[in-house]
Amino acid sequence: SVIDRPKGQQPTATYDSAFLKACRREPVPHTPVWFMRQAGRSLPEYLKVREGIPMLESCMRPELVAEITLQPVRRHKVDAAIYFSDIVVPLKAIGVDLDIKPGVGPVVEKPIRTRADLDQLRDLTPDDVWYVTEAMGLLTRELGGTPLIGFAGAPFTLASYLVEGGPSRNHEHTKSLMYGDPQLWADLLDRLADITAAFLKVQIEAGASAVQLFDSWVGALAPADYRRSVLPASAKVFRAVESYGVPRIHFGVGTGELLGLMGEAGADVVGVDWRVPLDEAARRVGPGRALQGNLDPAVLFAPTEVVEAKAQEVLDAAAGLEGHVFNLGHGVLPSMDPDALSRLVEYVQTSSVR
Ligand code: CP3
Repeated sequence: SVIDRPKGQQPTATYDSAFLKACRREPVPHTPVWFMRQAGRSLPEYLKVREGIPMLESCMRPELVAEITLQPVRRHKVDAAIYFSDIVVPLKAIGVDLDIKPGVGPVVEKPIRTRADLDQLRDLTPDDVWYVTEAMGLLTRELGGTPLIGFAGAPFTLASYLVEGGPSRNHEHTKSLMYGDPQLWADLLDRLADITAAFLKVQIEAGASAVQLFDSWVGALAPADYRRSVLPASAKVFRAVESYGVPRIHFGVGTGELLGLMGEAGADVVGVDWRVPLDEAARRVGPGRALQGNLDPAVLFAPTEVVEAKAQEVLDAAAGLEGHVFNLGHGVLPSMDPDALSRLVEYVQTSSVR
């Protein structure tokens, strides 16, 4: 298989972890579980160490990044850590004037809408994100056999923030550029693919044993537009890291109609939100790829018996799959009870024992 980074390049315990086995579609001792956005505002220990430190600044302090990344591993005993950062960090690192506004999200000072704007986006070098290399070095030593997931935003989702200038419901400026100036759009996505690929390479070389490409907002597109205007750039990212042999996960929200294409883009594991049951998702994705997902995050606000019954439904739908990584259908919400998340981890790990 191409996702078989040699054992010698990571601890045996990491290589043999349930998470990496599931990604490689090998038999697992139990279904591995982690949560998107598991590090963050749902945890009091996170709020404590972040006090007074702006989000982007916190991403550039290696010791703090390592501590925040480890917090959910210690507390919830999840099967994988996800590196604490944000999808806009590589853009900030190449000099894009942006900030992450609390309660809003990434805001870009001067949106990218013309050829001259695009020319401002330079390539990313490892020196631009030295703190990532340093934090990952600390983490791989601390994590022992727990795998570390690196991540990046996919070209479409990054373009959406850059072109809109901030979060957007309808992506009107983004789609206007995509439909109105296909050449400029293609060049923008191609540039973002190179930046994203460079950023993922830094993380893999520093010790990430899997990577996830977040195309959170691509569900806004019809399949034909995805295939024509987005897939080539995302495929370029996946191709660029293929030779490392680490599993590549591809996730988006509202992507039921895109699941097959998102696999085709070059993912080893396709992330699924809660709208499509995993057995149906497997038919759409086809053989040869594992699936990740897909409990509705809002279920965590229900009583424990309901959470467990719904988690069991996810496990049952995944029973026939070759590889399944349990996750939420989207990220942890800040108002979630951390204890409910810990109980869910224990439920998944114990009730799925083979
Ligand atoms: O998963 C993890 O635990 C790792 C950390 C992580 C963050 N952002 C930290 C963060 C990850 C994987 C991301 C990815 C990310 N960032 C995505 C893709 C995942 C998804 O949810 O679809 C997107 C779309 C972003 C952009 C972004 N950054 C948003 C929408 C927000 C939330 C704005 C808000 O305040 O509600 C951010 C800020 C952000 N990124 C926070 C965290 C912990 C909150 C800021 C804070 O704690 O001060």
